[in-house]
Amino acid sequence: MDDLKTKYLGQIAEAGDENVLEAIRVAAVGKKGEVALKMRELGKMTPEERQVAGPALNALKDEINSALAAKKAALADAALDERLRTEWLDVTLPSRPHRQGSIHPVSQATEELTAIFAELGFSVAEGPRIETDWHNFDALNIPGHHPARAEMDTFYMHRAEGDNRPPHVLRTHTSPVQIRSMELQGAPIRVICPGGVYRADYDQTHTPMFHQVEGLAIDTDISMANLKWVLEEFVKAFFEVDGVDLRFRASHFPFTEPSAEVDIRCSWEGGQLKIGEGDDWLEILGSGMVHPQVIAAGGIDPEVYQGFAFGMGIDRIAMLKYGIPDLRAFFDSDLRWLRHYGFAALDMPNLHGGLSR
Ligand code: DAH
Repeated sequence: MDDLKTKYLGQIAEAGDENVLEAIRVAAVGKKGEVALKMRELGKMTPEERQVAGPALNALKDEINSALAAKKAALADAALDERLRTEWLDVTLPSRPHRQGSIHPVSQATEELTAIFAELGFSVAEGPRIETDWHNFDALNIPGHHPARAEMDTFYMHRAEGDNRPPHVLRTHTSPVQIRSMELQGAPIRVICPGGVYRADYDQTHTPMFHQVEGLAIDTDISMANLKWVLEEFVKAFFEVDGVDLRFRASHFPFTEPSAEVDIRCSWEGGQLKIGEGDDWLEILGSGMVHPQVIAAGGIDPEVYQGFAFGMGIDRIAMLKYGIPDLRAFFDSDLRWLRHYGFAALDMPNLHGGLSR
């Protein structure tokens, strides 16, 4: 019995995993195990012998069973320790960006400009991409015969014969969202309207679908000075430069009076574009004081209210900021391009943490 005890307690101490332990259990105290065989021998013993051997065998069986249970618990503890060690997780760390997908430069630029204009008190408004020609043109002071309609290379929606709903177009700019926002919200109002627009055009700087952001501020005391300040603040924040020169150039848009196109000072040294320095100017947006007829088309009294508006190409300012040469690549869905120019998925731009870092 002492031999059995030494043998099995030794094996149990050595056992490296639960399977080995189970095999030992079967061999030692299982139904056909060595201890059971010894129990069977009790029958052949004299009563005196049995009185000594019986309790001793039971004690041996108990001892082996508790050694098995203790070892089993120790193995489970060790396994848990090992798991905790390898799966160690610091939940206070910021999440790690997995470079599986990335944010498209257009989305990134949209997030950035939304954050900047939010800081300036503008909320985001949206409108439909399939737009009535009234919202896209007439309400913006572009009547049917106006040359601006032809210049826009508009995609018209097909109309079945006998369909007398108002004609629809793929919106050629985000300006119709001005009208919809005024209709919905009335005055005073401060909104930006980012989104996709469509024109039948295709070359290095034009694609049939691209993105604009419209800005609209209507109140009782708004002047060109407010427009100028807002745009300067925006450009400084967006291009992440302290000083910028903007040049307001007299222009014409049917929906603004007076109208100005805005250029930004830049240099092209060694083919490298730098914003905010140099002797070149780059046009970045159109703007002006909203035409009284446009304010009236939005359902607001132009005798009481006035305001400014501007329209800017999001893809264009993204190209400028991030040095992306060809607009067409924006919409090719080439994964190599997306990986190169894309942004980490979890970096939300904001003015305090940094827009694009
Ligand atoms: N809608 C114009 C375009 O697509 C851009 C624009 C110019 C918008 C002047 C405006 C503005 O709101 O005031 O070319």
